[in-house]
Amino acid sequence: MSRIAVTGGAGRLGRSLVAGLAAAGHETVSLDRAVSDAVELQGLEQIAVDLTDTDAATRAIAGTRADALIHLAAIAVPFSAPEEVILRTNATMALTVMTAGVAAGIPKIVTASSPTVLGYGAPKGWLPDRLPLDEETTPKPWNAYALSKHLAEQTMAMLARQTGDATRFAAFRPCYVIAPEEWKGAPTQQGHTVAERLADPALSAPALFNYVDARDVATFIDTLLVALPDIPNAEVFFVGADDALARRPLAELLPRFVPGTEELAAELTGTAPAFSNAKARRVLGWRPAHNWRGELGEPPFGPVPHSHPALAPSPDLARKDVLA
Ligand SMILES: NC(=O)c1ccc[n+]([C@@H]2O[C@H](COP(=O)([O-])OP(=O)(O)OC[C@H]3O[C@@H](n4cnc5c(N)ncnc54)[C@H](O)[C@@H]3O)[C@@H](O)[C@H]2O)c1
Repeated sequence: MSRIAVTGGAGRLGRSLVAGLAAAGHETVSLDRAVSDAVELQGLEQIAVDLTDTDAATRAIAGTRADALIHLAAIAVPFSAPEEVILRTNATMALTVMTAGVAAGIPKIVTASSPTVLGYGAPKGWLPDRLPLDEETTPKPWNAYALSKHLAEQTMAMLARQTGDATRFAAFRPCYVIAPEEWKGAPTQQGHTVAERLADPALSAPALFNYVDARDVATFIDTLLVALPDIPNAEVFFVGADDALARRPLAELLPRFVPGTEELAAELTGTAPAFSNAKARRVLGWRPAHNWRGELGEPPFGPVPHSHPALAPSPDLARKDVLA
């Protein structure tokens, strides 16, 4: 059992993360602007602090006496505030919080980044070198939110260089986080329900159909914290589901929404996602336990039933779709 401090613990992801870590047997302490009455946090330790206030943040983080610090607090939605406010708030808070963690002697520090660092959705166009996207894909942030997350990753790497291996760091890029209540119909971060995002691919296309169950982020963090002393320092991980949040293969959907990806996306058949979680599997042995079909009670992906034998796909095609 560890004592784990989570900044932004009252937020959308933070609530599930704190609850998941507590359920796994850890002692948790959430640091957020205000004490929350969310059910997930009931009975758990919370500290109200403005983490943009360096002195207050430094005192609060030192006072947690934690074994690990997970930094989630941020303005979490692109364009939800003026660009300079997002950049200043997120970049400064990442530096303040992680520096305070180092000063307090917390041996494990993890910061939340975002897949948006890659730069998809840029108004003048964007094309990756290859698909699926992974940790080797070059970040090309095109807005202040994505840039602030890129800076958070770079701040983590900078602090690792300063401290040597005395402090173990990592950053993670959670895909579009879906909390348990959102499977049951509560609106997701962008305001639509999961069912609406599935019914209209245009809603999920801006995130390239990525998603992850918040409970899987909790198991990822739990696994990462155990592994941190034994893996290279300051690594970055994508944390995503095994499949895409879409009813049709991305080989078909991506070219409709990201012009120029016809050939790149050709391998994304069946349920294959645009973001690979292979590094987290390989380095940490983590894998997600949840997927949208299971959560919504839908059968696994397979060939669409055809009413007339002449319309049925060839057996080869059907097998390829199921296996991919
Ligand atoms: N939700 C997603 O789909 C998603 C995807 C990728 C990355 N992320 C990242 O994960 C983290 C958590 O995201 P979320 O969806 O839970 O966001 P959220 O907005 O629900 O939660 C963020 C929390 O940070 C707190 N916070 C903000 N400024 C603060 C300050 N100055 N002092 C103290 N607390 C402050 C807020 O009060 C809030 O509770 C963020 O860093 C976000 O960028 C989230």
